[in-house]
Amino acid sequence: MNKNILVIPGDGIGPEVTAWGKAVLAQIATNFGHEFTFDEALMGHAAIEATGSPLPDETLDKAKKSDAILFGAVGHALYDNDPSLKVRPEQGLLKIRKELGLYANLRPILLFDELLNASSIKANILKGTDILFFRELTGDVYFGEKTRSEDRNTASDLMIYHRYEVERIAHKAYEAAMKRNKRLCSVDKANVLESSRLWRETIQEISKQYPEVETEHMFIDNAAMQLIKDPKRFDVVLTANLFGDILTDEASQIAGSMGMLASASVGDGTGFFEPIHGSAHDIAGKNLANPLASILSVALMLDISFGLKEEAKVVLNAVDHVLKEGYRTNDIADGSTNPYHVLGTQEMGKLVLKFIAEKAVTI
Ligand code: IPM
Ligand code: MG
Repeated sequence: MNKNILVIPGDGIGPEVTAWGKAVLAQIATNFGHEFTFDEALMGHAAIEATGSPLPDETLDKAKKSDAILFGAVGHALYDNDPSLKVRPEQGLLKIRKELGLYANLRPILLFDELLNASSIKANILKGTDILFFRELTGDVYFGEKTRSEDRNTASDLMIYHRYEVERIAHKAYEAAMKRNKRLCSVDKANVLESSRLWRETIQEISKQYPEVETEHMFIDNAAMQLIKDPKRFDVVLTANLFGDILTDEASQIAGSMGMLASASVGDGTGFFEPIHGSAHDIAGKNLANPLASILSVALMLDISFGLKEEAKVVLNAVDHVLKEGYRTNDIADGSTNPYHVLGTQEMGKLVLKFIAEKAVTI
């Protein structure tokens, strides 16, 4: 299979983790006789520095022409501490999501048994958890009109949804639920927000087309609590953009660390694959970042964008293997980890690659 993959490393730890995602793709191509051609492009702070824009036209053009995109992270402390800056790295990410029509963000909460003790939640509560989040990605307060009064003392962000936006992601989430445990929990704040009432009404309508799926509606505040109290009760969770952003960071603790969670953004065209973690400047360039979320994002790319299920399984198994052998990056090490098995970004990446290269891991 011939594929053109655009790599957008971005900022902070983005480049160092994405390098391993890319290396894994190249290794898979070698193992299975595929031809993956890589190109690279700028986004975020790196792009602002080089071109003045967080998403240069060249990046967007390359993205539209590629078969899939592997992305790292955007963000820089400079902007976090200065809200007055008008040009911001995150604008690049939001714009590319909108321009590529990436309205569905899939965030699987994949819990490796070996990491049960890496979480701050008790292992017996976690064991057996398997959740797939569908976060709406191109609507909501993220894209609604923003205002600031002339005296600068009043500001607003419009929380807005159109019925078609809810419908199209609902279908994707229900289709996934049909292939899983046939339970779908739609999260909203319909007791307060009109946009949530439209959300709930639309899901109620769509649910009739999927009678085999058990649909539940939950308020966001309750969902945030239930997720920690009893994560096993969830199968597919469907949420709006902002609620999904917050809930999935919370849910990452079920998997032990943000450094373990991959995501796939899909919609009308090219798929976009990224770790859910951010640019993490505090650890950037220190060989401390966990490359597994980028590597697991590659598994999602192989599966979802290219339909290469066996290849995706090989990547998943390699990660599982390395964890079973006791190797950990700092973020997923716990009291029982052999200190000699605590690895840096490079060493962890190399180990996963080695397993794949030696075909030590097959399905
Ligand atoms: C995410 C991130 C982004 C978001 C930021 C970087 C704009 O937190 O992908 O979850 O809020 O969507
Ligand atoms: Mg987020």
